[in-house]
Amino acid sequence: MPHPATQRLLQISDPHIFADPEGDLLGQRTRLTLEWVLELAASQLGVADRVLLTGDLSQDATPASYRYLAERCARLGLPCHAIPGNHDVPGEMARSLVGGPIDMPRRVDCGPWNLVLLDSHLPGSEGGHLAAEQLAILEVALAARPEAPALVVLHHQPLPLGSPWLDEMTLDNPADFFAIIDRHPQVRAIVFGHVHQEYAGERRGVALLGAPSTCIQFLPRSPDFALDPATPGFRWLELHPDGRINTGIERIAAYPDPLDLSGSGY
Ligand SMILES: [Fe+2]
Repeated sequence: MPHPATQRLLQISDPHIFADPEGDLLGQRTRLTLEWVLELAASQLGVADRVLLTGDLSQDATPASYRYLAERCARLGLPCHAIPGNHDVPGEMARSLVGGPIDMPRRVDCGPWNLVLLDSHLPGSEGGHLAAEQLAILEVALAARPEAPALVVLHHQPLPLGSPWLDEMTLDNPADFFAIIDRHPQVRAIVFGHVHQEYAGERRGVALLGAPSTCIQFLPRSPDFALDPATPGFRWLELHPDGRINTGIERIAAYPDPLDLSGSGY
């Protein structure tokens, strides 16, 4: 039996919701694929403590797309913490979500764990950047609870994953980021979205964890943009009080609509 203070998180990433209920990414209706993923996650949502929405919540950054997501997440009955991705417009996102179940905190006390959520959105770019203000948030948040194991969350992958087209869109100042991480040995994992694929790596004892999108998937280690026939899914995380993490990926059995693998971009 896990320790009673163990925290359970679900990472729901890159839903790319449109204002149009039928809006699709390369033939996949993103509201529908999200729905199928949430149905798959229902039993885990019942025992989870909170949900992480790791960016690209909206594809068109419209108020209607964010409001849809807020209404859907209200039915989860859990705190939902969001960060913006490159497809989001952080100001619009914050305005549209205010007062709903989805908040955009910088730091969250998660039982024995310390969660830090960073905004790596860089206006006009698909890549990411942590501005001085975000780096300061990271430093202050980690210094606030030096004894607590920490999970750091951002949209962009902080290091290249071996997929050249996707690696052009990493965090552009990883040295600034890792200089802070390296000063705080309590950091146990860095969790990100953006890559639309399962990823589990490690840097100096810190886990690097990427998640599938709830819609289309990118083919791992592909030199150019290519879709992966792998199905949409989510990541679950069990954060133990002693700093250990159990984690895994769950995927739906099939896409709701036929998948066209010939797409050359999104
Ligand atoms: Fe995305």
